[in-house]
Amino acid sequence: MHAFNLNPTTAIAAVALLSALPTAQAGLYLKSSPVVQVDAKNYDRIINKSNHTSVVEFYAPWCGHCQNLKPAYEKAARNLEGLARVAAVNCDEDENKQLCGMMGVKGFPTLKTVRPGKKGKPIVEDYNGPRTAKGIVDAVVDKINNHVKRVTDKDIDSFLSTKNDTAKAILFTEKGTTSALLRSIAIDFLDVITIAQIRDKETKANELFGIKSYPTFVLLPGGDKESIVYDGELKKDDMVKFLSQAGQPNPDPAPVKSKGDKKSEKKADKKDKKDKKAAPKSAESNSESTSTESEESTDAPPAEKPVEVAPPIPAITDADKLTQECLNRKAHTCVLAFVPSAHGEIAEKALTDLAELAFKHARAKRHLFPFFEVHHDNEASESVFKSLELSGEVEIVAINAKRGWWRHYEGDFTPESVESWIDAIRLNEGAKKKLPESLISEVVEKPAESVEVKVEEDVKVEVETESDTPTKGAEPTPEATPAAESKVPKHEEL
Ligand SMILES: *[C@@H]1O[C@H](CO)[C@@H](O)[C@H](O)[C@H]1NC(C)=O
Ligand SMILES: *[C@@H]1O[C@H](CO)[C@@H](O)[C@H](O)[C@H]1NC(C)=O
Ligand SMILES: *[C@@H]1O[C@H](CO)[C@@H](O)[C@H](O)[C@H]1NC(C)=O
Repeated sequence: MHAFNLNPTTAIAAVALLSALPTAQAGLYLKSSPVVQVDAKNYDRIINKSNHTSVVEFYAPWCGHCQNLKPAYEKAARNLEGLARVAAVNCDEDENKQLCGMMGVKGFPTLKTVRPGKKGKPIVEDYNGPRTAKGIVDAVVDKINNHVKRVTDKDIDSFLSTKNDTAKAILFTEKGTTSALLRSIAIDFLDVITIAQIRDKETKANELFGIKSYPTFVLLPGGDKESIVYDGELKKDDMVKFLSQAGQPNPDPAPVKSKGDKKSEKKADKKDKKDKKAAPKSAESNSESTSTESEESTDAPPAEKPVEVAPPIPAITDADKLTQECLNRKAHTCVLAFVPSAHGEIAEKALTDLAELAFKHARAKRHLFPFFEVHHDNEASESVFKSLELSGEVEIVAINAKRGWWRHYEGDFTPESVESWIDAIRLNEGAKKKLPESLISEVVEKPAESVEVKVEEDVKVEVETESDTPTKGAEPTPEATPAAESKVPKHEEL
């Protein structure tokens, strides 16, 4: 992905992209996104104290992996609508830094699931699964607390008589598992309506209510009031409305739905009609909130903001170029990332860290020495690698030929560790080694098309505005590519 050569066109494109970006770093998610943006002020109320399960992405807008995750994360948010909250915290905002630190965020993006535990203390768990919509949806659905009572023939009598005047609702079903939809409804009505599930095999209980078909949802309003059979579709909004005649759902601070509620409802309605015409769905197979059918075509988010993808750092594969940029008597500080030409995981990590750092500084209009990708298995740079007595699969060094020093990065390639190493160089701190004289060439002229990543005020070029289209030169990782991502199957049915 980073293996393009140093050429003027690329350099201009990168500079143009940078100069067209706004200086204040906006969050990754738009107001209209199904992902709820949470900050330090409302985290406690919206996530920590919620009765619902949430997944929270801690991110930085300049982070390439975060940008790559965005389409999948928004898709997960749409699929989890009504079931769980999908939120994001921008850790680049000063006001959120303490929260991100408190949550133990060490890299971006970090995904955590949060759900209520005993005594109101939330249970926070890291999500380290695949960064696909399906992976996230599956993991989150798995973490939706289950307050649905399983009632059998044996305990139907006691179930009906306890808390006689409390409203109850029972789903009669052929399924042995409890759907995410029913679990989320039980959470909405915690301590208001007791939600239960009874299997078709429980003949006595089924006969008691005269149940003939499945699934059937019955509301027992409490006391001596008659039971009411639900005749709508098994959709969250409709079912909640139906239950509301017996009690109001808990006042959740940000209902587990998208902010663009109206819009998405309309969209869902339209979709519904289309679906019905094509093939009427049985209520049973339709748990709308987890369905992803025909979503692809209507997915495109509004194009309001340019993509902010860190362009990869330039690669040098030519010995003369390397000399011109970094290894002559007049050359200033250069950072060289020695990687195998076939990259590999650590190489990708290191290159991404550097690309994001360069991008961050460029956006802040801070001048920073250039970073280059070089290959220790390429003749242009292998002699440098050898003279510095390097041997790792991935090695990062800073070289200043003018002053005759070099520095060796010896961390674990996390963004933080690379950043603090770079910062130390900027502050002229840390250990320097003497650069072997043999590496320094007398060639002095720097070429005109130097690709130092810096912002040039007068270059203004249009930037692509399709938020989901990756910018040229910054390919998303395959796993996060929407096209490569498998369709999320219908999740759980009633
Ligand atoms: C979440 O709640 C727990 C227990 O109530 C509290 O200890 C913790 O500080 C809260 N976390 C945040 C980020 O507000
Ligand atoms: C439940 O309440 C109704 C009406 O208040 C009453 O007739 C019935 O006996 C009660 N049943 C039980 C088991 O308490
Ligand atoms: C959570 O559930 C309790 C009942 O267990 C309810 O009193 C409370 O209002 C709910 N909280 C929210 C934020 O909905």
